[in-house]
Amino acid sequence: MSIIYNEKEKIFHLKTPETSYVIGIYEGKLPMHLYYGKRLDSSFSFKDLFEANGDNGWGQGSMSADFENKIQLSGVPIECPSMGDGDVRPAMFQAKYEDGSILSKLWYTGHKIYKGKPEIPGLPATYVESDDEADTLELYLEDSFQDIKVVLYYTAFSKMDVITRSMRVINGNKGVVRLTAALSGCLDFNNKNYDLMHFYGAWARERYMERKPLFIGNQSVESLLGASGHHQNPFICLAEHGATEDRGRVYGVNLVYSGNFVSGAYVDPYHRTRLYIGINPTNFEWKLECGEEFFTPECVFVYSDEGIGKMSRTFHRLIRDRLARGKFRGEERPILINNWEATTFDFDEEKIVSIAKKAADVGVDMMVLDDGWFGVRNDDTTSLGDWFVNRDKLPNGLDGLAKRVNDMGMKFGLWLEPEMVSPESKLYKEHPDWCLHVQGRSRGLARSQLILDYSRKDVRDYIIKVLSDIFDNANIEYIKWDMNRNMGEIGSMLLPADRQGETAHRYMLGLYSVLEEIKKKYPDMLMEGCSAGGGRFDMGMFHYFDQFWTSDESEAMARIQIQNGTSYCYPTITMGAHVSKVPNGVGRVTSMELRGYVSLAGQFGYELDLNQLNDADIEEVKRQIALCKQYRKVFNNGDMYRIMSPENTSFMAWQFISEDKETVIVELFTMKALRYPPAEIIRLKDLESSSLYRDKETGREYSGEFLMNVGFSREPNVEYGCEMLILEKV
Ligand code: GLA
Repeated sequence: MSIIYNEKEKIFHLKTPETSYVIGIYEGKLPMHLYYGKRLDSSFSFKDLFEANGDNGWGQGSMSADFENKIQLSGVPIECPSMGDGDVRPAMFQAKYEDGSILSKLWYTGHKIYKGKPEIPGLPATYVESDDEADTLELYLEDSFQDIKVVLYYTAFSKMDVITRSMRVINGNKGVVRLTAALSGCLDFNNKNYDLMHFYGAWARERYMERKPLFIGNQSVESLLGASGHHQNPFICLAEHGATEDRGRVYGVNLVYSGNFVSGAYVDPYHRTRLYIGINPTNFEWKLECGEEFFTPECVFVYSDEGIGKMSRTFHRLIRDRLARGKFRGEERPILINNWEATTFDFDEEKIVSIAKKAADVGVDMMVLDDGWFGVRNDDTTSLGDWFVNRDKLPNGLDGLAKRVNDMGMKFGLWLEPEMVSPESKLYKEHPDWCLHVQGRSRGLARSQLILDYSRKDVRDYIIKVLSDIFDNANIEYIKWDMNRNMGEIGSMLLPADRQGETAHRYMLGLYSVLEEIKKKYPDMLMEGCSAGGGRFDMGMFHYFDQFWTSDESEAMARIQIQNGTSYCYPTITMGAHVSKVPNGVGRVTSMELRGYVSLAGQFGYELDLNQLNDADIEEVKRQIALCKQYRKVFNNGDMYRIMSPENTSFMAWQFISEDKETVIVELFTMKALRYPPAEIIRLKDLESSSLYRDKETGREYSGEFLMNVGFSREPNVEYGCEMLILEKV
């Protein structure tokens, strides 16, 4: 058992291979957070841990009469802080009751510990394949005055340093309850000696890392876009000041959810820190009638005492092995070519066939037809919702085109944007009320489109039928499911006035149910997500999508930064990464080799017309495809190390070690070139000291010890230079 209950001390000790999470029940009533960090195997008492949290008497609230005025709830570490009882820090649970009060007091009433991990109804979550992979603790809390019950779920994985949390709220029989906040988890610390790391961005520059010391007050990243969004990612870390890739204490937390979120840290004047994460309470209200219940999404905690890199690798393994599902989980994916950047909307069957033909010749596995194949869509102003083929462009339909592509020995894939409707469409004319909107108000467009109201069952049923018709009538082996605008005026026609605050979350539940149905119905179809590039790159999506288009920025030098930022939480197997033409982006011209190396560190593919390339570049394309086929398991299933970064060197360097530890690949990119630069030392990580590794290109052999300690030197003297070093264990 990795969860142990000490009845005498009223302590729950959750253990993973290298971490411990300890909860204590104070005075038989209040679940307190006593410890999270490196695994503790010796014995300790409630008192030892409680006292280690510092002077608990000081806080901004009043003394608690429920505990004989011995503590202030603002001053103690709490597992499920609620609103109104004197704890003035951000609360996990907030409700409005029929008597007008907002006060909740959630006291422990019991618990259950069992092997395995339960699902969360209607929501994506990490999972186990056999019950001995994890233990789960259910803590039962109750506010008997308001007849509210809360279940806190904790799962400790037995082979990974992962703790997950979620919450279920059950309304009893006293009256209607309005939930105004229902977060997924929080963590209280007795100090503020951490930097907050988060990942911000915009279209074409997703997930740039920012790292700032915690300040006193509230600091959070969040989304109100109706999607996790480009601007900020739900994933945040608290890294001890000075923590590096290999050293220091680091806490990573993420949310398995794709809608409005908040991830934050609140530091009080006594330097106590509360980390919290969940559905954003702003613009959220959920009505619970008597007997109704609400499940929060799951949040995931990962602790590493060996720096940021180890935390990243734990997230990578979890996402790859126990969040992703289906036939393609951990499997090699087809190398694809997508026509978007080559043609945008300007194509016909012959043009697509000519792109596919050249790609087939060089060994590409799949042709993906992007936007513009349906309705009368020749630009982005029309036709979303009209998912019938444009016969002017494709006279033989999707089926005819798929057959021609299949005849070349390639698979066929298709772009869709099923959550959207263009006002210029038949669908909108027939069902103007099917989009999200607030009645009587104007409807703001973004990219000339509106969002279909997936909180409605009739809309969801229609979409599933339309998509099934497409998938049943052509050999489509991959889809790119796009979502190109965020929510503005959020409202649903079918929800009553007092449930309008539920719209954004009901939308997510609706979307998840559609994706679940499609995934079940078409288990052999590879599914890639997209949101104007990487605007919904989150753990919720990776329960359904095998991979996600990382960014619409495919220019290689800019892409390096984006993939590096993304790698702090998400594994390379999830990152769609394609070679595109030059000049691209800001007009940069880089070599075919560099573009290939960047894409190989993701889900490899092409985003151009190979017919336009010269012979030398085509030879390089062939070499890349061979490299991909030989080494994609190393890039996508092995462990990744960020060994150099442009913050303090002239290079970005990534190291990949295969699961069997036999192959090591280092990719090195020159980020800042100088004419006569000083040499820089590149040292590898986590090799076997006494094993020998042979450089595939030169045949020279080095010991692991040598590569990790002496390393090798390189001079950053070539603009946009790149190098790939492949080492095989001898
Ligand atoms: C989004 C995607 C692109 C492409 C276009 C098509 O921007 O990120 O890759 O599919 O839509 O309109």
